[in-house]
Amino acid sequence: MNAEISTATDELTQRLSATPRGARLARRLTATQLTVWGHPHDSEANDTAQHLVAELAANAVTHGRVPGRDFELRLLRLPGSTLRIEVSDPRGDRRLRFVTGEPDGEHGRGLILVTLLADTWGVTERDVGKTVWAEIGLGGR
Ligand SMILES: Nc1ncnc2c1ncn2[C@@H]1O[C@H](COP(=O)(O)OP(=O)(O)OP(=O)(O)O)[C@@H](O)[C@H]1O
Ligand SMILES: [Mg+2]
Repeated sequence: MNAEISTATDELTQRLSATPRGARLARRLTATQLTVWGHPHDSEANDTAQHLVAELAANAVTHGRVPGRDFELRLLRLPGSTLRIEVSDPRGDRRLRFVTGEPDGEHGRGLILVTLLADTWGVTERDVGKTVWAEIGLGGR
C-alpha cells in the first residue's frame, strides 16, 4: 500500500482492500492524517473521526463489498474547520436501509453511532456504487 499522508494538502484519498484489514488500515490512516492536520491521537476530533471511519469502513467491506473490488477512503478538510469523511464502495444494487428502529442486539448500531457522532451524514450514488459520507467540525485550533 502506498498511502500518501499529506501535510500541505487538504485531502487524503486511498483505495483499500475490502477486507477487515483494509478497514483497520482506513482507521489508522485517519488517525495519522488527523494528527498531521493538528488533531493528535487523544483529541476529540481524532477520536470521533476514527470511530466514524471504523463504522463506515466496516459497512463498506461487509454490506458494500463486491468480490475483487476495493473500497475508497477520502478525507477532506473543508473551509470552516469541517472534516468530511467519504467511504465509497462498489455495490450499487442495494439502497442503504436507514436504521430507524432499535438495534437487534448484535447489528444495526453502526449507523446509529454515525448519527450520534456526525454533524451530518448521507449517501450519494456514484456511476459505480455509492459514497457514504459524514462531516464533523474540527474546532478552532
Ligand atoms: N455500505 C453499505 N452498503 C450497503 N448496505 C449498507 C451499507 N452500510 C450499511 N448498510 C445497510 O444498513 C444496515 C445498517 O447498518 P449498521 O452499520 O447500522 O448495522 P450493521 O452493519 O448491520 O451492524 P453493526 O454496524 O452494528 O455491526 C446494514 O445492516 C445494511 O443493511
Ligand atoms: Mg455496520
